[in-house]
Amino acid sequence: MRRLRRMAPDGSVGVEHEPRRRVERLRVEIEQHRYRYYVLSDPWIPDAEFDALYQELARLEALYPELDNPDSPTHRVGTPPSPAFGAVPHRQPMLSLDNAFDDRDLLRWAERNDRILEGAAVRWTCELKVDGVAISVAYVRGRLDRAVTRGDGMVGEDVTANVRTIQGIPDYLQFDDPPALLEVRGEIYYPVAKFQSMNDAREEAGLARFANPRNAASGALRQKDPAKTAQRPLRLVCHGMGAVQGLSTPTHSGFLEAIGAGGLPVAEQTRTFDDLDAVCRFIADWGERRHAPAYEMDGVVVKVDDLGQQRRLGATSAVPRWAIAFKYPPEERQTKLIDIFVNVGRTGKVTPFASFEPVLVAGSTLQLATLHNEDQARHKDVRPGDTIVVRKAGDVIPEVVGPVLSQRPDEVAAAGPWRMPTTCPFCGSPIERLEGEAASFCSNIDCPNRLLESLAHFASRGALDIEGLGYETARTLLDHHLVSNIADVYRLDPDDLLPLEGFGDKKVSQLLAGIEGSKSQPLERLLVALNIRMVGGTVARVLARHFGSLAALRTADSDTIAAVNGVGPIRAAAVRAFLDNPRNAALLDELAGLGVRTDTEAAQRSDLLDGWTVVLTGGLTGFTRDEAKQAIEDRGGKVTGNVSKKTSVVVVGVDPGSKAAKALDLGVPTVDEDGFFALLDSGALP
Ligand code: IVH
Repeated sequence: MRRLRRMAPDGSVGVEHEPRRRVERLRVEIEQHRYRYYVLSDPWIPDAEFDALYQELARLEALYPELDNPDSPTHRVGTPPSPAFGAVPHRQPMLSLDNAFDDRDLLRWAERNDRILEGAAVRWTCELKVDGVAISVAYVRGRLDRAVTRGDGMVGEDVTANVRTIQGIPDYLQFDDPPALLEVRGEIYYPVAKFQSMNDAREEAGLARFANPRNAASGALRQKDPAKTAQRPLRLVCHGMGAVQGLSTPTHSGFLEAIGAGGLPVAEQTRTFDDLDAVCRFIADWGERRHAPAYEMDGVVVKVDDLGQQRRLGATSAVPRWAIAFKYPPEERQTKLIDIFVNVGRTGKVTPFASFEPVLVAGSTLQLATLHNEDQARHKDVRPGDTIVVRKAGDVIPEVVGPVLSQRPDEVAAAGPWRMPTTCPFCGSPIERLEGEAASFCSNIDCPNRLLESLAHFASRGALDIEGLGYETARTLLDHHLVSNIADVYRLDPDDLLPLEGFGDKKVSQLLAGIEGSKSQPLERLLVALNIRMVGGTVARVLARHFGSLAALRTADSDTIAAVNGVGPIRAAAVRAFLDNPRNAALLDELAGLGVRTDTEAAQRSDLLDGWTVVLTGGLTGFTRDEAKQAIEDRGGKVTGNVSKKTSVVVVGVDPGSKAAKALDLGVPTVDEDGFFALLDSGALP
């Protein structure tokens, strides 16, 4: 973008005059940078510069549709929705693996191979067994042609459009003379480090949590809309070959090296050994560091390295003889269930959880695990006094697997299954469960634990971010009846706080300063803090951006709220229900009266685009045309239909019309959607 604007005015230099060459150059450059970034992890340029190149290419392709091409690096993101996945027969079957569970199994496997190979020396390549989704990716003359899931091993699903969006999977291989056909096999995984936060966000949005990263990867890969896959941080690691023409290596490790050099992601941990003891050491060593890699792994795959020997060993109908998967025992541990308690959350939801004797699992000590709801708790049928099996689901979230029935004491058996309490342990009110719903709720809207959770949430980071107001402080304030609703936080008096234990001068002044500071947080933070069902950070932001003030949101009907991009009727109903509740309405009035800010920056700076004339062309993903117009007008700008020399900027969306080309002819700056956002935020071209 910057490039275009800088060069456009005098018309003498610049990309516009040689767009074809520039587009080609950009594609090569972007591929190179992607390769250095994703494959070598050694970028030459800062991310922002890479983004600028990418944006420039996207813009040129939008301006000159004849230069656009489905293989362009820009089509890795935001490709149009594909129809249901087609069934594709594999050129070579995708086999499974035999398992070994200890060194003896491994030795037996090696001995059998030794007999078939008549005592020839063998080298073994050891790879981590990635717990992901198996995929076959075919490159025809170096260009990504098709990506297919394993399916039943003979026929898989065509997920090419989705796989194209995955970072680190090149569209073109970096071979001088690419092979006629190169089919690589590998695993697509969801990085463990990103799994938990994604699951938390799903829960916040009212969606079911994924049980583990593999399921998350599988779900992301099977999206009907590739743009959705593109939003997930999926990665590929290649571990083998399918059908190959025009590339020959004598060994498996040589193949991995060759495809690695061609730009495909291969595992850095892979090693080749010539004695079985070293193989066993590799396995034992990684067994100790199971959680070090970015992905989940559940074992080591040992492969005969020589491809000639592999051919001699061959395969049975389902598994090759030349490879075996050494599976680590699942990291499950036994412990004693002390009790099942219930918690009342900020929405009033009652969640049962197991409290057990502390036990070390997969590198961390566990002593609590959620049982989610009444049905799940009863289905697991764990009872206080039971020996239970616990593990980390997806190696992240503590989970109770079930009881060890053979060790159930008679009195525990006689006690019968656990039951959801009928009254809330915090306030004694009845616990209710609506017909057809899995969740139970405390019927008391003023339940003290609900208030505690709400208060802690109100003050939490993504909400009003009140330093010094964590759980413990919130509990103390409630216990001493200094707050009985959220608004009371803004009425705290230092004279009431100072006598409390642990509330010295410093703590009190820090807390009060934090509370005072929270008053100026923008509307989006307040909306998060208010604990409205189905409103997390993202929805709060779009609502704040759209309505600008709490007053505007409060008077909007549900259709208007539902029409805001990213909200929809179900969330809109939840928002409306919250606002319509008289207690909430009173709380909002109180908060405003106490000086809590109820608007957002974007709406305040209404003269940001004063004097600007803006033309919109093409579709935007974050705004309808009317919303985009409104956003410009809210800031004092004007929207017109025709591009002229007087136009300040043309906003170029997807499938733009001729206005984009006209802008270029006249030297009028253009921005894409991101640039438009930046313009709305800052009042200046990015
Ligand atoms: S080789 C013909 N290597 O595990 C041999 N597989 O449980 C094909 N897997 O179907 C497999 N990591 O999807 C191989 N380094 C690795 C692997 C690996 C994970 C998967 C693969 C396979 C499954 C068998």
